[in-house]
Amino acid sequence: MKIAVLKERDPLETRVSATPETVKKFIALGATMAVESGAGETAGFADAEYREAGSDVGDREAVIADADAMFCVRGPDAAELAPAKKDAWLIGALDPFGQRERVDAYAAAGIGALAMEFMPRITRAQSMDILSSQSNLAGYKAVLDAAAEYGRAFPMMMTAAGTVSAARCFVMGVGVAGLQAIATARRLGAQVSATDVRAATKEQIESLGAKPIFVEEVEGIEGEGTGGYATEMSEEYQKAQAELVSSHIAKQDIVITTALIPGRPAPRLISDAQIATMKPGSVIVDLAVEQGGNVEGAVAGEVIKKHGVKIVGHRNVAGRLAADASALYARNLYNFLSAFWDEETKAPILPEDDEIVQGVTLTRDGNVVNERLTAS
Ligand code: NAI
Repeated sequence: MKIAVLKERDPLETRVSATPETVKKFIALGATMAVESGAGETAGFADAEYREAGSDVGDREAVIADADAMFCVRGPDAAELAPAKKDAWLIGALDPFGQRERVDAYAAAGIGALAMEFMPRITRAQSMDILSSQSNLAGYKAVLDAAAEYGRAFPMMMTAAGTVSAARCFVMGVGVAGLQAIATARRLGAQVSATDVRAATKEQIESLGAKPIFVEEVEGIEGEGTGGYATEMSEEYQKAQAELVSSHIAKQDIVITTALIPGRPAPRLISDAQIATMKPGSVIVDLAVEQGGNVEGAVAGEVIKKHGVKIVGHRNVAGRLAADASALYARNLYNFLSAFWDEETKAPILPEDDEIVQGVTLTRDGNVVNERLTAS
């Protein structure tokens, strides 16, 4: 089993899909590793460290040649993998809905594409879930980004010169990123409140010492779809939510939005009119900006100002903590393949009827086979 670790071509991508630590672990399982030269540079891992860990280091053609699996963070074009062996796996965050044509091209090229973001949300797969590992870091970093843009302090401070009041921070969307944002804002000393459409999050918000802000008056709202994800809400709910948010948001200094619905554009949670009610100097961080944005007017890759409020739209927020994000992502990939490792052949065997394998497999034997793609 030869595993190639590709250097990311997208200038926005700072992460790498294997670290010297996971290289060592794969070698211990009997794999051969080949890292594309410079792959770890932006995440702080030098070629020499990969060599020390036991990997070959070379140019793309050399590492891809004879590889049975290719690791990446973002999916490359199929043409960039031209020397790849037929049936070689490509494993990464392949963005199957956003890059649908690319998936067809992988199939046509005979590449077995495995999208890690399609990992099923089951207990057995928790350690393989890249969405969780990356969202957790993004939630943390979003609060630090907000603090850096905010012209005031987060904690209450009683000084000889007078009192500095605590920042009020509102987190919208309490999944993995939102929970970490609440915890981080609390640690910094902010007064935190949070909302979600999934009723189950109420207790989680309270257990982190924050105040839940929930639509109570609309009947029959659960908001939880399959696999713990949110569903799109009724018009009645959306109206009630907008009213509740309007009255709350005007009093906030910091708002962090993280709301996503799988396979759909991000729900719009904050309108321009609502931004206009906030105090000048307030900061909104839109973590969903790359999926269409929760905040009206947010621009991916930019920090803009509207009505005196800063709207932060950094891309690839987990990648702003490239070393940790890479370490966790690389371990997710290791946990996935090692769970299917066959000691005799010293290679993973991915059974087609396994729930995890079915979930992540996009293409096999020249065809697109994933239900989530073929059904749409
Ligand atoms: P996500 O990234 O898909 O969405 C973020 C949050 O936005 C969710 O909490 C969602 O309910 C919320 N949201 C969607 N529409 C909204 C709206 N209109 N207003 C307010 N909030 C809205 O979710 P994430 O972070 O991936 O987690 C979802 C759930 O899955 C969590 O309960 C988490 O614990 C669970 N999970 C389970 C795993 C496993 O068992 N292997 C792994 C990862 C997460």
